[in-house]
Amino acid sequence: MKHFTNVKDLGNLQQAVKEALEIKKNRFAYKHLGENKTLLMVFFNSSLRTRLSTQKAGMNLGMNTIVLDINQGAWKLETERGVIMDGDKPEHILEAIPVMGCYCDVIGVRAFAQFEDKAYDYNETIINQFIKHSGKPVFSMEAATGHPLQAFADLITIEEYKKTKRPKVVLTWAPHPRALPQAVPNSFADFMNEADVDFVITHPKGYELADEFVRGARVEYDQMKAFENADFIYAKSWAAYQDPNYGKILSTDRSWTVSARQMAVTRNAYFMHCLPVRRNMIVTDDVIESPQSIVIPEAANREISAQWVIKKIIEQ
Ligand code: CP
Repeated sequence: MKHFTNVKDLGNLQQAVKEALEIKKNRFAYKHLGENKTLLMVFFNSSLRTRLSTQKAGMNLGMNTIVLDINQGAWKLETERGVIMDGDKPEHILEAIPVMGCYCDVIGVRAFAQFEDKAYDYNETIINQFIKHSGKPVFSMEAATGHPLQAFADLITIEEYKKTKRPKVVLTWAPHPRALPQAVPNSFADFMNEADVDFVITHPKGYELADEFVRGARVEYDQMKAFENADFIYAKSWAAYQDPNYGKILSTDRSWTVSARQMAVTRNAYFMHCLPVRRNMIVTDDVIESPQSIVIPEAANREISAQWVIKKIIEQ
């Protein structure tokens, strides 16, 4: 694998999950692969899980790791070509990226959607510049339109916890005080559409995701109906994708907050969320603290999904 930005880069998904579960049993078995190799992780946005789990994955593989927070101590970067750089950004990303490439063997990039220009976001302008100009393999640590390391960890978690061969998995929108990117729900849909699950998406009208991610998935606007007999509930907030409301909050309806009321109609479903989660906006305290909440093992699997991806890259 040269670069990792979406589910297609994994190849055979079932095989990838199988190999990831093998890695989990003995995560230090490939320590020799990363000897004298350096992983650079570049963050344009904040992180807890991605930062720790990806660094740990690199260390499990014997790599040296460097973390660069663009907004803390690095020069402010101009990202537009053709701009007269007489403002507060002293360095252009077109020099910064190849320089970063000089100091490492693999680059992980986190660069969220900015909600200023839909085409800029959905063309994945930042991560594609890294792919084009760094000269090194690049993987997404959450880009504008996808968070595939998270979705891969989610699928590994579902594989570990499922009680039926083809579980019903429901992705539900939930309210949030801030407009959040569609990256997590996009990638979750992308992975679930490839997996052997009965996949349903539920959200208020106006929150339809891009067709390229929804594909043939069933969309149910009645949340209670969607939850019926579900085996896994995956909650996430996102801002509107469709024009003319791209990046906007259309609803703050707290009846969509996942609570015991909705969980009662499921098949004793497991509750999942990528974290960080705003309690009593996305999910009530009692649901996230219940024995059916698997948000912590889900986060733990971020180390495994990252390790599988980095291993495949450095094996090339
Ligand atoms: N789920 C996730 O990506 O967490 P962080 O934003 O803390 O990295």
